[in-house]
Amino acid sequence: MCGIVGFTGNRQAAPILLDGLSKLEYRGYDSAGIAVRDGENETEVIKEKGKLRVLAEMTNNGQAVKGCCGIGHTRWATHGEPSAVNAHPHASDDGNVIAVHNGIIENYQELREKLIKNGYSFHSQTDTEVAVKLVDYYYKKYAPLPIEAIARAMVRIRGSYALCVMFKDYPGEIYCARKDSPMIIGIADGETYVASDVPAILKYTRNVYYIGNMEIAKLEKGAVTFFNIDSEVIDKKLTEIKWDAESAEKGGYEHFMLKEIHEQPKVIRDTINSVVTDGLVHFDTVSLTDEEIAELEQVYIVACGSAYHVGVDLQYVIESLTSLQVRVELASEFRYRDMKLRGKSLVIVISQSGETADTLAALRMSKESGVKTLGIVNVVGSSIAREADNVFYTLAGPEISVATTKAYSTQLVAGYLLALQFAKARGEIADERYDELLAEINTIPEKVERILEDKERIQWYSNKLVNVADSFFIGRGIDYAIGMEGSLKLKEISYIHSEAYAAGELKHGPISLIENGTIVISVVTQDRLIEKTVSNMVEVKSRGAKLMAVTTAGNYFLEDTAEFTCYVPKIEPLFAGSLSVIPLQLLSYYVSIGKGYDVDKPRNLAKSVTVE
Ligand code: G6P
Repeated sequence: MCGIVGFTGNRQAAPILLDGLSKLEYRGYDSAGIAVRDGENETEVIKEKGKLRVLAEMTNNGQAVKGCCGIGHTRWATHGEPSAVNAHPHASDDGNVIAVHNGIIENYQELREKLIKNGYSFHSQTDTEVAVKLVDYYYKKYAPLPIEAIARAMVRIRGSYALCVMFKDYPGEIYCARKDSPMIIGIADGETYVASDVPAILKYTRNVYYIGNMEIAKLEKGAVTFFNIDSEVIDKKLTEIKWDAESAEKGGYEHFMLKEIHEQPKVIRDTINSVVTDGLVHFDTVSLTDEEIAELEQVYIVACGSAYHVGVDLQYVIESLTSLQVRVELASEFRYRDMKLRGKSLVIVISQSGETADTLAALRMSKESGVKTLGIVNVVGSSIAREADNVFYTLAGPEISVATTKAYSTQLVAGYLLALQFAKARGEIADERYDELLAEINTIPEKVERILEDKERIQWYSNKLVNVADSFFIGRGIDYAIGMEGSLKLKEISYIHSEAYAAGELKHGPISLIENGTIVISVVTQDRLIEKTVSNMVEVKSRGAKLMAVTTAGNYFLEDTAEFTCYVPKIEPLFAGSLSVIPLQLLSYYVSIGKGYDVDKPRNLAKSVTVE
């Protein structure tokens, strides 16, 4: 949440900052600001409430602001309402220190009081202003050296931060510090960039450094130096980003979400191909041996949001293919539970960004308990990818739309491959069945393509949902897991109240909410459970509900009950989730568009949730 960008070089900084921020708007978009300095001149700070375009208009797309060194910020409010005063950059009163920040400073009240006692006054409600003034305080109290001042502030600050700071005495330089909030540094000929995420700078360079926790960086034109908290210079390895710039652009689609929905066949195929060779799954980065897998008794899958829904689906798949017990946990709950993790356990954390605060904390807690950990992660070099004992990278590429689609699909398929490999390593699957299931997984990309070809039908039906106030998603087993994801998608981008229920639970409460015209969307792909779910559909229909069904080709009898039926190609039921989720993604996309909402940037949400 919150996106930061910085640039120092020989070109005008403001257009680069605005362009970079536009790639980070998925991280926050309630206000934005930039600070740009022209040589030795005073730094100019421009910030305003509202989306980035407001700032772009104020600065004539950056043309009106001169200077080759600057920092920028797009905000997702945590401390203090969205307003121009609370927007970043923040500055010390004399303009000595100017900074942008992503993260949360937990002890900001205590630090604020300390600073007030030392003569500082505060204008905003943000924790960032406290950080800025703390750096200024140490800079003035001890030697006026940026690295030392920042290091001292870092020792006092509790919480998470990615900070970019400019000092009045050091024109052309940007100082960065990081703890638990993402930040990368990019380098090109005579130019240096800093950003919360790769897409912001991909257009300019693919050569990046990952700044580690509790490290500081000094950025100059075309050069960067890293320091540890003791102000000692440290070495870093340059990494080349493989993503191409185009994959971070809309590529002719009206919205990132639609583009990302359409990328699914390719990225699912890429993810499968990254580990499958000669009809076998090989995990190079998953260093668990077959013996270790064979000894496992318990698997915990821990994640947030849609990644949690992937876990719910995978629970059914892993338990069906192996004798492993699987528990799926919300990271925000798991991390605070007073529970004893069993010795022969594996904790799988799933995260697109690899930075979600609760998931990261759950991973750290698991490692402290001494159990093995595995991350299913999309962003290379992210905190979870670096800290998990084993990593399975999904190859979704950059996902920009806040509502996840392609990352979700690649996580699901990564989980299928893991489940299959677990079954093999534990001797719990016959070779023939293994081959058959792997062949089925290989059919998923082409089947997703077929569903996408039929999107106009879903677009047509979505019109009927535009004025709906409430909806329910029902299903059993894997269909329930997919209903949870479908329901989240619909509510997060179309703001329609929606709940997902295990179909068998309807009669324990939610059925009392069904009345004439209530929308019930039923996922029905699990052969052995179809009749049970159809009975539940009939129960709600007789109470006035309007039904949509997502089912497998061949189940035409569902048209007797549902007013709209959407078919997905036949597939092994264990993997049906990969197909049945696609119509639900499309449905929520078209409903949101039909309602005229900003589908890629739903209100109050952010893509990467680095706060608790
Ligand atoms: C946010 C996003 C969701 C995502 C969740 C977990 O809420 O909007 O799309 O599922 O965070 O994010 P992660 O990066 O850990 O997968």
